[in-house]
Amino acid sequence: MCGIIAAASNRNVGKLLVQGLHKMEYRGYDSAGIALHQIDKIAHLRTLGKVNLLEEKMIAEKPKSKLGIAHTRWATHGEPSEENAHPHKSNERVYIVHNGIIENYLDLKEFLKKEGYTFSSQTDSELIAHMLEYFLNKGNSMLDSMYLTKEKLEGAYAIAAIDKEDDKNVMIARSKSPLLIGVGVDEFLAASDPLAIGQLTNEFVFLEDGDVAELSSESYTIYDAEKTEVQREVTQIDISSQSTSKGDYKHFMEKEIYEQPDAILNTIDGRVGGEDVLDNIFGLGSSEIFEKVKRIQIVACGTSLHAGRVAANWFSSISELPTQTDYASEYRYRNPHVDEDSLLVTISQSGETADTLAALRYAKEKNYLSTLCICNVPTSSLARESDYSIFTNAGPEIGVASTKAFTTQLAALMLLALSLAKSRKINPKLRTRVITALRSLPDTIQETLKLKDTILEIAPEIANKDNALFLGRGIFYPIAKEGALKLKEISYIHAEAYPAGELKHGPLALIDEEMPVIALAPESEIAEKLVSNLEEVKARGGTIYVFADPSITMDLKSGKLINMPKCDFLLTPIIYTIPLQILSYEVALLRGTDIDQPRNLAKSVTVE
Ligand code: AGP
Repeated sequence: MCGIIAAASNRNVGKLLVQGLHKMEYRGYDSAGIALHQIDKIAHLRTLGKVNLLEEKMIAEKPKSKLGIAHTRWATHGEPSEENAHPHKSNERVYIVHNGIIENYLDLKEFLKKEGYTFSSQTDSELIAHMLEYFLNKGNSMLDSMYLTKEKLEGAYAIAAIDKEDDKNVMIARSKSPLLIGVGVDEFLAASDPLAIGQLTNEFVFLEDGDVAELSSESYTIYDAEKTEVQREVTQIDISSQSTSKGDYKHFMEKEIYEQPDAILNTIDGRVGGEDVLDNIFGLGSSEIFEKVKRIQIVACGTSLHAGRVAANWFSSISELPTQTDYASEYRYRNPHVDEDSLLVTISQSGETADTLAALRYAKEKNYLSTLCICNVPTSSLARESDYSIFTNAGPEIGVASTKAFTTQLAALMLLALSLAKSRKINPKLRTRVITALRSLPDTIQETLKLKDTILEIAPEIANKDNALFLGRGIFYPIAKEGALKLKEISYIHAEAYPAGELKHGPLALIDEEMPVIALAPESEIAEKLVSNLEEVKARGGTIYVFADPSITMDLKSGKLINMPKCDFLLTPIIYTIPLQILSYEVALLRGTDIDQPRNLAKSVTVE
């Protein structure tokens, strides 16, 4: 994880580097730091905690500089502390910031210690500063030192480095962790994410794996893995038009929950026409490829995998294709057998999740027919490395807990299920039915958001508990899992999800008055069975909160039956997600947690 930013300019860069860190705080917020070149010395400021603490230090010390690097950290090696915060330095000469993990750091540290270098942090990153200085001291240029250092490093990294002996240039390098250059006016910038520098430029150059680049205020030069000078395409993106403010909401998560009607509209806009899904919405030639697909493999992490697990049901019932789902972090390690004509589908809000990217790269070596990603960030590594893609168009999601990204992923996955069915020339009536329901989905979500007042009544009852169980059946089991993930992620209440029928095979032992049970009960062929499962909870004194279709009746001793708006059954997973998001948010609000930046987490998980 971590966010890095660098600037070589004709103006003072301290403020713009810190502003960039604020925009990248979603990548980590354990500690932050900055190194600013001041001709005869390098000002080095680091703080434990969020970027605003670094900002306070900057305001107090007012360091001036036209060349600098900065970092916001999510701890991997070494606890969050000022010593472990970046930039790391070597003998007051070389300063570096790093995003990624150096896997062979113990061996390299040992080597450098023998060469007389002392380490002041527990990080894997500090050795990069020492290694660069080691090669510089042997008479190499910074460019050569970076290549020599890269030869030693195993793992993933995006690096920016400055040398006290050079007040003009910053050197950057990338391997498996994202890094891009921003083309400014009389300045060049580098960052992990275009968001960090989107207020300064809308021209970006995405580095490729193995690239090294040198930036000054006047120019930039990129070299590929073989040290040959190369030109990389300049991409125009207008980031400043994308809303990254909370508006009148207390938290980004709250704003993102209430943005969902518009977000879903943006996902389906321009992709459906008449009574069917349009051709080739996943890229030119995708509809033809879909004709050949015989099997689907989904890989993703966290919330995105929950979306994949809902979609696996749709691929079976609408596209009539067998589908397997895997945690991206596990997929490569189970020696997967890939049948002929299989389609690999990756799902990721950020498109930079290291486990998902690694799974895609592994899959590309296998005999997949094609690879396709569902992603919210068009410039992401996942989008650039997949054969086909569809963007969820949800707009930036800043809260660590995924909300609108999840429901728009579901909408995009439904478009995929429909497209596959269309290419396979099956289920035309069902396709028309779902398209009609998709068109009214934003209105149904708007109606569902009105449940807030009812949810406010039950939130205090859950906020004072330590545990919660979520129950769903069939296509609602992944939604129950998503509800449990949301609650634990932002309120720190321990929550688990079960298919309701599994309760009597073990978890029923946990039921007492201290264990709230949150159940999802849409109208379905197994609704009666679910109600029976809930009776088992009731008989043991459990408090049950049921989000249910109005046709379902239950006499609850304690808890609440909450009627949900009507909607086509195939889309109900999207609707039933909404109250669970609101519930988690309101419970977390009552518990006073840091909702947008919960402890120990980061938005974009760029380490495996
Ligand atoms: C969701 O609330 C989580 N923050 C997390 O599970 C997330 O979905 C996961 O890390 C995957 O991220 P991605 O969608 O960006 O790949």
